[in-house]
Formats: sequence, C-alpha cells, structure tokens
Amino acid sequence: MAKLELENIYYRYKGADKDVLRDINCVFEGGKLNTIVEPSGSGKTTLLYIMAGL
Ligand SMILES: Nc1ncnc2c1ncn2[C@@H]1O[C@H](COP(=O)(O)OP(=O)(O)OP(=O)(O)O)[C@@H](O)[C@H]1O
Ligand SMILES: [Mg+2]
Repeated sequence: MAKLELENIYYRYKGADKDVLRDINCVFEGGKLNTIVEPSGSGKTTLLYIMAGL
C-alpha cells in the first residue's frame, strides 16, 4: 500500500523571522485515516500545502 513519508521538514515564509515548521517527521499509511490536531497558527495548512507539493 502506498504511503507518504515526511522527513526533516522545515519551512519558513519569506520575510518571516522564524520557522513555521521545524523537523517534522511522520508517515501517512495508505488506506488509513489520519488527523493533524494542533492549535491555530501552528502550521497545519502549511504542512498540507507542502504535502500536496504546492
Ligand atoms: N502566506 C503566508 N505568509 C507568511 N506567513 C504565513 C503565511 N501563511 C501562514 N503564515 C503564518 O504561518 C503560521 C502557520 O500558519 P498556518 O495557516 O499553516 O496554521 P494553521 O495551523 O493551519 O492555522 P489554523 O488552525 O488557524 O488554520 C502562522 O503564524 C501564520 O501567520
Ligand atoms: Mg489552517
């Protein structure tokens, strides 16, 4: 089954003074339901954009 694996993901928006994402590591297994639960502004949407290759 396909899986999507994230390894050492860092991201900082242009002009920002700190990283939004720091050393993100996780595996999303095919056929399983995954949730990302973190407070507002923690970087969930940013991470999904990266996972989508946007
Ligand atoms: N285009 C952008 N340029 C600069 N900073 C951004 C941009 N988009 C988001 N940010 C900042 O990056 C951080 C993470 O934002 P993001 O939208 O990924 O969080 P989120 O976890 O999805 O929040 P929410 O739960 O409110 O949807 C926030 O500090 C936000 O202000
Ligand atoms: Mg969001």
